[in-house]
Amino acid sequence: MRKPILAGNWKMNKTVAEAIALVNEMKDDLIAIESVESVFCPPFLAVADVARLTAGTPLGVGAQNLFWKESGAYTGEVAPNMVAELCQYVIIGHSERREYFGETDETVNKKIVAAFAQGITPIVCVGETLELRQAERTESWVKGQVVAALAGLSAEQVASMVIAYEPIWAIGTGLAATSEEAERVCGEVVRATVAELYGQATADAVRIQYGGSVKPSNAAELMAMPNIDGGLVGGASLKAADFVEVVRLTAAAKA
Ligand code: PGA
Repeated sequence: MRKPILAGNWKMNKTVAEAIALVNEMKDDLIAIESVESVFCPPFLAVADVARLTAGTPLGVGAQNLFWKESGAYTGEVAPNMVAELCQYVIIGHSERREYFGETDETVNKKIVAAFAQGITPIVCVGETLELRQAERTESWVKGQVVAALAGLSAEQVASMVIAYEPIWAIGTGLAATSEEAERVCGEVVRATVAELYGQATADAVRIQYGGSVKPSNAAELMAMPNIDGGLVGGASLKAADFVEVVRLTAAAKA
């Protein structure tokens, strides 16, 4: 009942020209895989072109960030209504933004609320550091991030959103969580927390992605897990063949 969703988080990669070339290279293959929703999250400057190239197709477009204020003197920021003009999704609270750009549970929540106010679906990132994992604090940490992120949201909003569990030690390292570990946190922590706060129907509806070194060699195993509804893919989303293969493996794993 939950449609798998694979989002390519391009991070700070690809010029506009490169973004156009990448989308053109994989667009038709992705459209053909109807059982999985594919989303491109390019840097802001390429969003308009990616939106134009995917208009009228089932492919989605996501921003990598937004600011929660409506408009005004906030140099360098992008307002929710600007994102809403071109994007269906927005990544919020990625660990790189929390680490390098001072985002906190509180600002993450403000951004989620602002995204919903403009009809944008947030892809909210949570995940523990290696230190927290070694201290066996993964569960309490991730649960705390989920509770803080969802503060003040309605059950309908939560049911419609995407939560990405991304263990920080697995991001960009080539070292993904094992499918059992990823399934355990996605199911017993993230989905269980949503169930505790909003009830089982909402928990059954929310889509939970795994992120962190998802690639063709591990996608089949990860995506076969019942509580993993897709992935947030960084490095492997920058190569057309790899991203298409991950989406294809996801479709096969969920079939
Ligand atoms: P990665 O990045 O796939 O390169 O590990 C994932 C992410 O940060 O969303």
